[in-house]
Amino acid sequence: MTSMPSGKPVLIRNLRKTYGRVEALADVSLDIAPGEFCTLLGASGSGKTTLLKTLAGFENYDAGSIMVGGRDIGPVPVSKRNIGMVFQNYALFPHMSVRKNIAFGLEMRRMSAADLDRRVKAALELVSLGDYAERLPRELSGGQQQRVALARALVIEPDILLMDEPLGALDKNLRKSIQLQLKDLHRSTGVTIIYVTHDQEEALFLSDKIALMDKGRIVQVGTPRDLYFRPNSRFVASFLGECNFLASGEAEIAIRPERMRVGEPARVSDRQVEAVVENIIFMGTGYRLVLRADGRELTVLTDADIPDMNRGDVITVGYDQAHAMRLAA
Ligand SMILES: Nc1ncnc2c1ncn2[C@@H]1O[C@H](COP(=O)(O)OP(=O)(O)OP(=O)(O)O)[C@@H](O)[C@H]1O
Ligand SMILES: [Mg+2]
Repeated sequence: MTSMPSGKPVLIRNLRKTYGRVEALADVSLDIAPGEFCTLLGASGSGKTTLLKTLAGFENYDAGSIMVGGRDIGPVPVSKRNIGMVFQNYALFPHMSVRKNIAFGLEMRRMSAADLDRRVKAALELVSLGDYAERLPRELSGGQQQRVALARALVIEPDILLMDEPLGALDKNLRKSIQLQLKDLHRSTGVTIIYVTHDQEEALFLSDKIALMDKGRIVQVGTPRDLYFRPNSRFVASFLGECNFLASGEAEIAIRPERMRVGEPARVSDRQVEAVVENIIFMGTGYRLVLRADGRELTVLTDADIPDMNRGDVITVGYDQAHAMRLAA
């Protein structure tokens, strides 16, 4: 690529979209800074794909507005939006070489053969597939095919890049490796990315910003740390990571399982809870303890050194007040 794509800001305001009686998007507003990696996270049916489709122009919306780089893209047709897209099953053309697959997005544009060649080559280098240009998709691994799809989206030098569960079909190791490459690629191109995943770990790892969606609404938006350490509701606290909920006076507090302690550290903590041991599960790095206190289940994640205990024992678990997260009622 001659110049690397530089990200544009995206401002989504009061966006609504209904399908019949289903409110797929109910008043969605979201600001994405230039070059930001923003992830839409949420359960199945929460509206993630619908939001991407309205951005891409594949779906109309009923109300609201979308500004990209200060321009209202509502009236702009799909082909003029300059948005790159990668989807989970965005099939490559099977009879075309890798090079042809990538060049395809540029062939609609008036450009010299030399320019086209140069940009395809740069896109191939970007995803480390320089040596694979003449192969057919079936001669590539799943991860390599996904990188071709990525190169095809990037070659048009998009203002924003939309990705809908692009790694969903890959095994865990390949996912991890492509996540790393994606992070590098984001850094080196500076493109604004809006990414959809079900996988909370992936969201925490990749994102500058996460928007958590539920039933067509964004229920909280912030950095991964914001959402993890300052969830604004029980829903957010339990969607992102595991959480224990304890009554504390009139309010309810939430504590992450890794913040709870047993043994001597429990005794020197600010707060203690007596709990019955229901299950002790060895996880390699430590134990997962399933406990019961006041009729509620508590999960505690420990390291590998814990006092001897058996099912049915009553033990003391502790936590520090500083790690208790207050939730709105
Ligand atoms: N073309 C359509 N016609 C009717 N309803 C639709 C259509 N597309 C989506 N919906 C509905 O809109 C809601 C949001 O769907 P959407 O595909 O955006 O969810 P999602 O968050 O992407 O879910 P998933 O994680 O399963 O992909 C769902 O209730 C869905 O059934
Ligand atoms: Mg979807």
